[in-house]
Amino acid sequence: MTDLLDGVRDHYRATGLTERLKAALTNLGPEEQRLTPQQLATLDQFHTRGLVATTELARLAGIAADMSVLDVGSGIGGPARFLAATYGCQVTGVDLSEPFVDAARYLTERTGQSGQVSFQTASALELPFDDGRFDVALLQHVAMNISDRARLYREILRVLKSGGKFATFDVVLNSGSPHYPVPWARTPATSFLLTAAATREAIEAAGFRMLAWQDDSEAAKAWIAQVRASGPPDPANLGVVMGPDFAQLAANLGRNLLEGRLGVLTAVFEVTPIKS
Ligand SMILES: C[S@@+](CC[C@H](N)C(=O)[O-])C[C@H]1O[C@@H](n2cnc3c(N)ncnc32)[C@H](O)[C@@H]1O
Repeated sequence: MTDLLDGVRDHYRATGLTERLKAALTNLGPEEQRLTPQQLATLDQFHTRGLVATTELARLAGIAADMSVLDVGSGIGGPARFLAATYGCQVTGVDLSEPFVDAARYLTERTGQSGQVSFQTASALELPFDDGRFDVALLQHVAMNISDRARLYREILRVLKSGGKFATFDVVLNSGSPHYPVPWARTPATSFLLTAAATREAIEAAGFRMLAWQDDSEAAKAWIAQVRASGPPDPANLGVVMGPDFAQLAANLGRNLLEGRLGVLTAVFEVTPIKS
């Protein structure tokens, strides 16, 4: 297990990330100037369809101002900042990658949201929270890095309140083998894709009941086509986070989606009520 986590950590090791982000953001204004979560969206929404996907997932999950939200595998914190700014909720992010958590805290200071949004370095398989703490848990483009899905979904269930919602947005296996490297794994050794049906089975087996289920593969393909047609990327893009090979990783994701090897799934579940 530790070896698997080390491999994933290594993929997201991002040496000197916060310094690179500081440099990349100079064209948005001086260090003391407050930024908005929207201004950061080209580099801090680390999943297909960027901010649009986060907005849709939050709507499906019914996030509201009085809620306490957990973002599992929060990356550099883009979804957490956007949700807090849009809905007024409190958001806690956890991520395996220490450099990502450092970067998330830095960017959250830049948006002035440190009172509402916080981050911790931890594994999704061992969440550092008491039982029943959160109203909603989000998992966006993280499950494909996790082999022990039973434990992942049980941990998420454990930290949710009774009636709490679990909203997931992930890449799934369709048919054939994916081309590597991809944005979450440079080799198959740290990629643990499941089909959509197997994902649902694992989530329900943990104790959830399905509320919404959406195959977003066509929307993802349309987004890939739009990105390809829109010319050179914004200089503040995910290449700043992942390094110069990110263009190749992203291109392979596009190829896998267009060839039907991979798909994209959005689903929302609720904690199954305990019958007395
Ligand atoms: C593709 S990024 C997505 C980040 C974020 N959810 C987003 O959509 O912007 C995958 C993230 O999952 C994190 N991750 C992978 N395995 C994890 C684990 N076992 N526990 C916590 N975080 C994990 C990685 O460190 C990385 O930040």
